[in-house]
Amino acid sequence: MPSAPTFDQTLRREFDRQGYFVIERYLSEADCQRLRAQALSLAAGYELSDGAAVFSTRTHAHGAQRYFLDSARDVRCFLEEDARDANGDLRQPLRQCINKIGHALHDLDPVFGPFSHSDSVRDLAEAMGLVEPKPIQSMVIFKQPRIGGEVVWHQDATFLYTDPVSVVGFWFALEAATVENGCLQVLPGRHRDGLKRRFIRVDDQTRFETLDSSRWDLSEAVSLEVPEGALVGLHGLLPHASAPNSGPASRLAYSLHLIDGQCHYPADNWLQ
Ligand code: FE2
Repeated sequence: MPSAPTFDQTLRREFDRQGYFVIERYLSEADCQRLRAQALSLAAGYELSDGAAVFSTRTHAHGAQRYFLDSARDVRCFLEEDARDANGDLRQPLRQCINKIGHALHDLDPVFGPFSHSDSVRDLAEAMGLVEPKPIQSMVIFKQPRIGGEVVWHQDATFLYTDPVSVVGFWFALEAATVENGCLQVLPGRHRDGLKRRFIRVDDQTRFETLDSSRWDLSEAVSLEVPEGALVGLHGLLPHASAPNSGPASRLAYSLHLIDGQCHYPADNWLQ
């Protein structure tokens, strides 16, 4: 388990002002190794016959698929958009074609479960302002060498909306994240501009509802290169993205989202 984090007044101020913070040595080497080994073992156990869906934040074509919706309460693998060549064959061995595994590792997985419900994670979420922190969505994100796909600019509150907005994202670097392998990018301070869209589910169909059609100024983007073991904390309204992985190294991360159990959780959120 991670040691007690040092979320002091300085970090709190940074979080309030910028909408994110970085704790460089949050996970020990042993923690990283353990979580990485579990991620790889989940990937190794995956067969295409288990069901497959491509995960794309550009098209959201996965959104209408039963496989995607049912992953809300399961542990399922999603393939990279570029996993297949023109003939439909996998470009790399299957385990190197997995984009991510989601979305209920925090409840169902014997390793990621206890980690996600640890005192350390809860204390940190409380320090960030959540009264009743509730892990609600989790993903292992592989960002595979050469084919690791882009994650387009978004706010996590689009997908995990509460009234008032309470979601926070914990992004644990299980490997070093660099510009080359597609590290997180953020728009510092823009969490104060409100929510632009909601991702809504009605009768097993999903769609976006626009709340504010203005555009973000992407010239303000900052790349967050972090070492293995780092934790990036993200405000639910902070715009963030990541570029494709153009390099030879993967960029494995564990992403955990928590909401405040005291806030209203609407019945039309995709994740129920
Ligand atoms: Fe996100």
